[in-house]
Amino acid sequence: MQKGKNKKRKTFTRRDFLKGFSGGAIGAAVAPRLLAQDAASLQTEKGKIPLYSKKQITLAVNEKKFPLVVEPRETLLYVLRERLNLTGSKMTCARGECGGCTVLLDGNPVYSCMYLAIRADGKKVTTVEGLAANGNLHPVQEAFIQKDAYQCGFCTPGFIMSSVALLNNNQNPKMEEIKNGLSGNICRCGNYFKIYEAVSAASKGVRGS
Ligand code: FES
Ligand code: FES
Repeated sequence: MQKGKNKKRKTFTRRDFLKGFSGGAIGAAVAPRLLAQDAASLQTEKGKIPLYSKKQITLAVNEKKFPLVVEPRETLLYVLRERLNLTGSKMTCARGECGGCTVLLDGNPVYSCMYLAIRADGKKVTTVEGLAANGNLHPVQEAFIQKDAYQCGFCTPGFIMSSVALLNNNQNPKMEEIKNGLSGNICRCGNYFKIYEAVSAASKGVRGS
């Protein structure tokens, strides 16, 4: 902590910012200038400062390579859903709380709503659309159907991806380990019992027993 240093520094809060802009004459003078600016850059006395620059990346999604030009602000979830049309991953809370957007990144589960696409450059992304192989559902998908582990189904792709990640690391999890492995996902319908049961059943399918 840089306590000493920060003491003198004026922190600029969102409230300060809003107060500044509600200041009548100042606001009236500044607003047209801001509105007139190119959205990609900010005109200052020293010239234009680019606010962002696009970047070429390659995403390997479900074994296919996609060269893309993305803005730094674009999340992985946005790119998957809006640009690659892979809508299986859901945007539910969009702030890292529910797990509806879970995908695997190099085999690890991540909240794609909180992960910038630019950071996924060159990484292997697996979405729920990429789980079935040779016309067969993944054992976890099969178990969710067999055990009725969904109601509205909105949380289901995220739970399935977290379950796949869990079983990839531990093919015979105990109930506590299943609950732990899925603790980053929320089911608003409260179907947890059946979800846990499905993962337990899927673990048998994964082990082939
Ligand atoms: S939509 Fe990403 S965590 Fe909720
Ligand atoms: S089945 Fe509806 S939110 Fe989980």
